[in-house]
Amino acid sequence: METAFTLADYDRAADFIRQRSPHRPRLGLILGSGLSGLAEQVEEADILPYGEIPHFPQSTVAGHAGRLVLGKLAGMSVCVMQGRFHYYEGYSLQQVTLPVRVMARLGVETLIITNAAGGLNPAFAVGDLMLIEDHINFLGMAGHNPLRGPNLEAFGTRFPALNNAYSRSLRELAQAVAAERGLTLRRGVYVAVAGPNFETPAEIRFLRQAGGDAVGMSTVPEVIVAHHAGMRVLAISTITNLAIAEPDSDHAPTHEEVMDAGTIIVPRLTRLLLGILERLAGE
Ligand code: 6GU
Repeated sequence: METAFTLADYDRAADFIRQRSPHRPRLGLILGSGLSGLAEQVEEADILPYGEIPHFPQSTVAGHAGRLVLGKLAGMSVCVMQGRFHYYEGYSLQQVTLPVRVMARLGVETLIITNAAGGLNPAFAVGDLMLIEDHINFLGMAGHNPLRGPNLEAFGTRFPALNNAYSRSLRELAQAVAAERGLTLRRGVYVAVAGPNFETPAEIRFLRQAGGDAVGMSTVPEVIVAHHAGMRVLAISTITNLAIAEPDSDHAPTHEEVMDAGTIIVPRLTRLLLGILERLAGE
């Protein structure tokens, strides 16, 4: 059997973080590829490189800073993951989702997750923000699930339901903030695949027919583990490129394109997230 983290492992990481920072965050934020700039706005920041935290893997992908930032954002105590772990890097899904459980042990109750994704919905444009309303988990359906293995009852139940994984109240809050700030917020279904290759045109047509609006290589494992642990989850995709469904297109998606789109998207995402945090701070 694959090695599984124990409750003591998660607590060792949480205890280390508590010793290194006086902040006691109730909100967690995961910043995806090209989106880590928002972490620079955290005030009274305590910065913990992943490599220093017990059991944390090291982040490797270019564009991922690889550190935990605790501090204040829009008046809220936050724990920000500046860079995340991906399954395609070779980590197990338990490693990918370890920080989420550590945040749960730290007392984080609300988790906001962002990612870079390819647009499947033909109405989407590069630079769009998409509120994730639901997902299709191709990793999970293929047998790769972060909850596989012994269930830790301290977090949640063996067979969690996912029909309300994306908190309705947080989605409504995000839409209200977007409307108030004049930001277009698309809504849709996120499809999770393992990567690291981008999809073939036939796969893109298949994912569209399956009901997907955006496709990416992250987020869903973290959502599953957060929801299992009873956290409220809000997830937002940033559309960094349009998935190519035509067989002989001259254009090919690249990691550079995904990272470049971040520069257009970060200001929009920042406005939306800071607005959401301000509202949550007043809750
Ligand atoms: Cl087109 N596919 C996947 N799997 N991930 C992406 C993407 C596409 N664009 C950004 N991330």
